[in-house]
Amino acid sequence: MDTTRMYEFPVREFFSQPRSLFGPGAYEQAGPEAAALGMRHVLFVTSGLSGTGIVDECKTNFENAGVTVTVYDKVESNPKDYNVMDAYSMFTENECDGFVSIGGGSSHDTAKSARVVAAHDGRNVNEFQGVGVSETLNTPPQIAINTTVGTGAETTPFVVVTDLSSEKAPHKWVGADQAFTPTLAINDPVLCMSQPREYVAFTGFDTIAHASEAYVGRVQHLSCTPLAYKAIELVQSNLRQAVYNPNDYNAMEAMTWAQYIAAQAFSSALLGILHSLSHAVCAYYDIHHGLNNGVGIARVWTYNLPAATEKFADIATAMGEDTRGLNPAEAADKAIDSVIRLARDCGIPENFSSVNPNYAKSEMGRGPFYENRPTKIESDDAELQAMAEHVMEDVCTPGNPRDLTVEAAKEILRDCVYDPMVRKTANGYRQNIWGADPAMGRMTAQRMES
Ligand SMILES: [Fe+2]
Repeated sequence: MDTTRMYEFPVREFFSQPRSLFGPGAYEQAGPEAAALGMRHVLFVTSGLSGTGIVDECKTNFENAGVTVTVYDKVESNPKDYNVMDAYSMFTENECDGFVSIGGGSSHDTAKSARVVAAHDGRNVNEFQGVGVSETLNTPPQIAINTTVGTGAETTPFVVVTDLSSEKAPHKWVGADQAFTPTLAINDPVLCMSQPREYVAFTGFDTIAHASEAYVGRVQHLSCTPLAYKAIELVQSNLRQAVYNPNDYNAMEAMTWAQYIAAQAFSSALLGILHSLSHAVCAYYDIHHGLNNGVGIARVWTYNLPAATEKFADIATAMGEDTRGLNPAEAADKAIDSVIRLARDCGIPENFSSVNPNYAKSEMGRGPFYENRPTKIESDDAELQAMAEHVMEDVCTPGNPRDLTVEAAKEILRDCVYDPMVRKTANGYRQNIWGADPAMGRMTAQRMES
């Protein structure tokens, strides 16, 4: 039966989640858990988390449980293909039998990817982009100790890796496969309290991006909808406090729950073009994924609003807006206003060109591709076109509630780079996206003729 004209996703898959531990002190169980899993020599995969003492503390914890530790601490923000291959080499050279990722999504994704590389005798990680590419689920075990309130990578079956070595570079790709799912996820809100406050803001916007894309997307997985809604409520109620008072345990615990359940939601309900856009900008400018989402979220919600109006009206309610007496379109507008207010309150820049160049520079990758790249984002037409094409081929794009054209993607990107963060009408970008879309123009002309 051809059901493609009835549903974009006629068959929905539920991706099982790993066993997990959540709560203050949970990370102290990691060493004994590793021993119980039969690990004797693990590779820590981390950016180092300098100044926090977390890696050293975890190392002692594992050694006290009788588990030997080798440390790979060169993970970069937006992990690169060479980070994965370096971690894999260290894993094999030291004859390790398990991975322990400590940090945020970059560390977890590096270890998740290195496990799949290890299960395929060291094949290049860039071979594993796309859906279900791994030839085996028999990967080395991984304990993922999370320290941020954003990516949820400690629990998802996804990785995001930047290819800087193939002919497609720079290319930030997504891999989706149960083979990537960690063995044990550990969320300890106390560890999240060590994040710099701008990282709390950025990763918090990654969480609301996950939750909202899972909530409004085409997959509409009913096992995920309530989790996505609850995560939006938690972000609205707690992100400001977590940013400006990271020592507030209750706020950080709520944000840790939000990031965890939002990730469970998008593991099966998938994502949309906010993530596609974020991946494209990250490929060209190596800035923080959550910061990208914070800049893009109001624009993408605005673009998607006419295709998911009632869902965005729900989001307005989740964000605490009073929508009594409003029709769905009026209520949905309030969601946009609310997320702009949250972004401004949390210090998200108005647009990419106003991201502090010095700050962006500190986030730049150390790989050769980025050495001569500008740190201020002022994309010209050719670069906007290249990024728009990157958006179109992203694995997240088909789940978006509204169809996308390369012209519309380019216009949303241009808005993100140069315009102020204000609510517009869905087709009210500087360049009218219907007029910019030759395919839509042809369809309209055909209909008018018939
Ligand atoms: Fe994300």
